[in-house]
Amino acid sequence: MKLFLIMFVILFGFSYDKAYGKGSLDIDIKLKALNKPALKTIKSQDGDIIDCIDIYKQHAFDHPALKNHKIQMKPSIEFGEKKTNKIPNNGSSEQITSQIWSKSGDCPDGTIPVRRVSREDIRRASSPSQFGRKSPHRYNYLDNALHQRKGKFNFTAAKRNHSGPIFRSEAFIVALGFNFVGAKSDINVWSPPRVQPSDYSSAQTWLLGGVSSDKFESIEAGWMVNPGVFGDYRTRLFISWTKDGYKTTGCINLLCSGFVQTTKSFALGAVIEPVSSSSRTQYIITISVFLDPNTGNWWMPSGNNVLGYWPGTLFNSLKHSATAVQWGGEVHSPNILKKPHTVTSMGSGQWANYLYGEACYHTNLRIKDYSMQLKYPKYLNEYTDESNCYTTKLHRKTYMSEPRFYFGGPGRNRYCP
Ligand SMILES: *[C@@H]1O[C@H](CO)[C@@H](O)[C@H](O)[C@H]1NC(C)=O
Ligand SMILES: *[C@@H]1O[C@H](CO)[C@@H](O)[C@H](O)[C@H]1NC(C)=O
Ligand SMILES: *[C@@H]1O[C@H](CO)[C@@H](O)[C@H](O)[C@H]1NC(C)=O
Repeated sequence: MKLFLIMFVILFGFSYDKAYGKGSLDIDIKLKALNKPALKTIKSQDGDIIDCIDIYKQHAFDHPALKNHKIQMKPSIEFGEKKTNKIPNNGSSEQITSQIWSKSGDCPDGTIPVRRVSREDIRRASSPSQFGRKSPHRYNYLDNALHQRKGKFNFTAAKRNHSGPIFRSEAFIVALGFNFVGAKSDINVWSPPRVQPSDYSSAQTWLLGGVSSDKFESIEAGWMVNPGVFGDYRTRLFISWTKDGYKTTGCINLLCSGFVQTTKSFALGAVIEPVSSSSRTQYIITISVFLDPNTGNWWMPSGNNVLGYWPGTLFNSLKHSATAVQWGGEVHSPNILKKPHTVTSMGSGQWANYLYGEACYHTNLRIKDYSMQLKYPKYLNEYTDESNCYTTKLHRKTYMSEPRFYFGGPGRNRYCP
């Protein structure tokens, strides 16, 4: 029987490749894994197709570590983050609380909305197995981070301490020196100009763990413009994770198995609208990630709802806590630290020192450590890979007071040729 099946795959694969071009079979297999049978399909005004998938049949459960996983519908504790979720609204900022597709219908109970992947989406990837993956990376500073209490070491020197090609330009603030079990912030949403087809640009939070920098563990969430994965230049909600520095594990949204979605109200990868514009209303999303210490699962609350969780079994050290929390942005491009530099911008495309109404920001920054108190991070390091291309500005009214963090920039310009 097995042999027959192999023969069939070889024969079928052979003739199929001939007829439809190399890799078509791989694409079919990938599409089948990603697009589970829909119990209902919603066609969004923005062109996305949202499939309502049986919550128990979602892609997460294809992960070998989740074979016998019992789905959790809510965390076992309250994260105590709802109180601070109300941002003072002075008319110039507004929270985005729904997605466009939900105007066209909703998913039945027991299902989750999943953005359907098209054949063209996968074809843009270098290979179907690379679809939605982030490239390998290192965070060298992690090797020393735990020993450097309160961030009093030369973070820039430690972060820059690596060799080999780099495809990410990052600008962020980082909290170090504690065991973090939660982080949140409000990010204003922009459509960064001039994003190139081979690049992406994100505004996001990272929770990093792991004992060695080249095998770091990471949980990430925010917004991104990623034409490679989504086929357009719209700003979309994303999450991502890895347990080995993106060498072999992890990817964006539900494009590889791992993250368990529990909400029926939000679809990962869906368009976020409206976006902010200069000197007008700033539209914000709240990104929160909290550890449930009883299960080792990292949850993503969203207002009174939860989006879902990363099961603790996906990780080694993140199961217990994160070593570092970063808030900022990232531009991924083959043309980073190079001339000519990519023209892909970060954040709003404006420099950080243009501040409120012009630049992208993280505000209402909160962390939770083993004290289980939600508080703003006191000790922060500011960092940018390419200060002539993308900048940072940590804004505090007085020493050690509530931080607000601005970041971004145009990419290629006179000083970043
Ligand atoms: C309120 O608006 C002003 C500018 O009009 C801005 O400086 C301030 O940061 C805003 N506050 C909040 C909490 O958004
Ligand atoms: C930290 O390291 C960077 C890069 O090696 C260097 O330019 C900077 O002067 C150092 N800062 C301090 C305070 O030592
Ligand atoms: C740079 O990396 C090397 C090897 O990983 C390490 O021995 C050294 O301490 C690092 N230097 C800094 C400034 O972190």
